[in-house]
Amino acid sequence: MPTERSREEVPPPHAVGKRPTDAPSHPDILKILLDEQALRSRTRELGAQISRDYAGRRLLVVGVLKGSLIFMADLLRAIGAEVDVHVDFVAVASYAGTASTGTIRVLLDLRENPEGRDVLVVEDIVDTGLTLTSLTETLRARRPRSLEVCTLLDKPDCRKIPFQPKYVGFKIPNEFVVGFGLDFDERYRQLPYVGVLRAS
Ligand code: IMP
Repeated sequence: MPTERSREEVPPPHAVGKRPTDAPSHPDILKILLDEQALRSRTRELGAQISRDYAGRRLLVVGVLKGSLIFMADLLRAIGAEVDVHVDFVAVASYAGTASTGTIRVLLDLRENPEGRDVLVVEDIVDTGLTLTSLTETLRARRPRSLEVCTLLDKPDCRKIPFQPKYVGFKIPNEFVVGFGLDFDERYRQLPYVGVLRAS
């Protein structure tokens, strides 16, 4: 029988900003949106879902650098042995000045050939949807057997074009967040939680 206190310590997996936050451990962080426990618990759920969906299959998990790195590492460890997992990475950037067109430049391409394979793209956050729309179009042209997206965070209110990832960790409001791999100007990626940056 959990005590009142221990019940309080376990946040529901989808609780975004509903739980009293831990004291921010970085002076630039206004508030913690998702703490370590919420991130861990939801990542395990996603891993279990992916394990069921791809059981007995070979899956090429493609991390989008750099933002996905911490989520990707945790997600991979949450996928069971029933999936034959292979790992690869891509790095992309928006063309300067043409961000609204969503055209991306591939900075680092896959080493594996996705043709005929089940591919799962792992991303940190979907905001306007432009990056993943363009990236998935590029990958689809290489004729994978299947192509799905798993994102840790989703800001559905910010879409410029419709994009619906199959696997979503948390839907969050339109706030700029950092930590757990996400950066502002290459900073804050190492924070073990997702937090809202204080306006400077
Ligand atoms: P989209 O093309 O607008 O969907 O943007 C996706 C990319 O924008 C992500 O991979 C991040 O690099 C970046 N991004 C969007 N929102 C945030 C945020 O709140 N924090 C950090 N990076 C973000």
